[in-house]
Amino acid sequence: MAKGLFVTFEGGDGSGKTTVMEELERRLSRRRISFLHTREPGGSVIAEEIRNVILDRKNTAMDERTEALLYAASRRQHLIEIVLPALRQGQLVLSDRYLDSSLAYQGYARGIGMDEVYAINLFATEKILPDLTFYLDLSPEQGLLRIAKNRDREVNRLDLEKENFHRKVYEGYQILLKKYPDRIKRIDATKSVEEEVDEIEGILLKRISS
Ligand code: TYD
Repeated sequence: MAKGLFVTFEGGDGSGKTTVMEELERRLSRRRISFLHTREPGGSVIAEEIRNVILDRKNTAMDERTEALLYAASRRQHLIEIVLPALRQGQLVLSDRYLDSSLAYQGYARGIGMDEVYAINLFATEKILPDLTFYLDLSPEQGLLRIAKNRDREVNRLDLEKENFHRKVYEGYQILLKKYPDRIKRIDATKSVEEEVDEIEGILLKRISS
């Protein structure tokens, strides 16, 4: 059976994942490298419905473990319906967020504990981890500044969290970088989009051809 490549993009809010992924995908298309772009939470009809519940600004009463379970549920549905079929066909899958987001946001920043959140995600994903992860490293202060400047961007429930929460998300990702040094590549997100994508493209092309 053909085996594709599962690549995920991670970062705090405002770290520029969307812009960087768009530029990378333009370049891949120019090289005639096909890929599947997807995102979490969401990426399939059922998973998008779960996304709406999680991110709805009126759901301020949501319990943190409920939130973690909903992300894991959305992840599983997306994995089964979208990611795994594409990987089985040998495709390159590029996902805007995956499991590391839950570890950083729910596990570390919300304080549930990374191990506990990892445990429910093991159940949800049956241990399917990305082959490669790009983490866009930007301080939460700079990230929030970018969000404030980008008025077109929709403001969701998690964007409304206090600065302290985003600082914790940042710390959570730093722990993950240390824990998974082979899988997670750190990209300096203070650089220009062109420079960031040069680096990502280089690593990715090398991996595709190996
Ligand atoms: P989204 O609008 O997709 O933001 P972004 O462009 O930053 O990815 O909203 C997703 C939000 O959900 C974002 O604040 C991160 C958060 N999130 C978690 O807390 N846990 C998760 O497992 C995932 C996938 C996302």
